Amino acid sequence: MRSILITGANRGIGLELVRKIVTEKNPQHVFAGCRNINKAEVLQQFAASNSTVRVLELDVTKDATVDAAVLQVSDIVGNEGLDVLINNAGIYNTEPLENTSRNMMQSYFNVNATGPLFITQKFLPLLRQGSISRSASSLGGHNSVLNLTSGYGSIEGNTSGGIYAYRASKAALNMITKSLSIDLRPDNIMAVALDPGWVQTDMGGSFASSTTEECVKRLLQVIESLCEKENGKIVSYKGNILPF
Ligand SMILES: NC(=O)c1ccc[n+]([C@@H]2O[C@H](COP(=O)([O-])OP(=O)(O)OC[C@H]3O[C@@H](n4cnc5c(N)ncnc54)[C@H](OP(=O)(O)O)[C@@H]3O)[C@@H](O)[C@H]2O)c1
Repeated sequence: MRSILITGANRGIGLELVRKIVTEKNPQHVFAGCRNINKAEVLQQFAASNSTVRVLELDVTKDATVDAAVLQVSDIVGNEGLDVLINNAGIYNTEPLENTSRNMMQSYFNVNATGPLFITQKFLPLLRQGSISRSASSLGGHNSVLNLTSGYGSIEGNTSGGIYAYRASKAALNMITKSLSIDLRPDNIMAVALDPGWVQTDMGGSFASSTTEECVKRLLQVIESLCEKENGKIVSYKGNILPF
């Protein structure tokens, strides 16, 4: 990876992705998006001692912040473009049918599905440039859009019902990922939905089965081994393909 952008990078899985990629993968640029820079103390401290990290204000529901982020990234990467976009930011609840509202459904789609779609659309010129410059420099491999999904977004895996807003928005994200994988194939850019499993974060809670360190270690192994057969698929942190 030469350059990578991660949304929702101020805590949880996103923050750990930034840490591990910087300390173990030796990238040139890591762009860490967060919606409130002033509240991202841990990320800011990490960035202060790691010059490859740029903290960007990026609310996935606000086009103005996405447009500004595109310009900032473009200024830094120039003709090399962007190699990897990780749409990690997400929101979650377990509300049952009675408590599910129209507004809730719209806001969940806005963050978990529409957000990643339009971020990808706006960063596409930089992702395409990244793919062109990678093949010109004979680096090999694919550039990619990686969308953090969830087992709750699997239609086939839904045996317990409920959780309408989260499930439906992640299922929509899976469909968006599939279409991106087809549309971006001519550009040699992969699109994959990644399921991180159940992880100890504010979202996953303290009883979750893996820590952010364990999760991200496995996610990075999966990311590095992604190939054409996984394009457009849901791939778990264990590396297996999950059903839609
Ligand atoms: N933890 C799990 O067990 C688990 C399981 C399956 C899938 N996932 C998925 O993995 C991803 C990361 O989850 P996590 O556990 O790390 O969650 P988390 O600890 O709750 O962190 C969520 C991140 O998303 C950001 N975010 C929320 N709304 C945003 C917006 N409008 N614009 C920009 N950033 C926004 C949050 O920023 P603020 O701090 O500003 O709120 C935060 O940085 C999510 O997509 C989630 O659905 C997690």
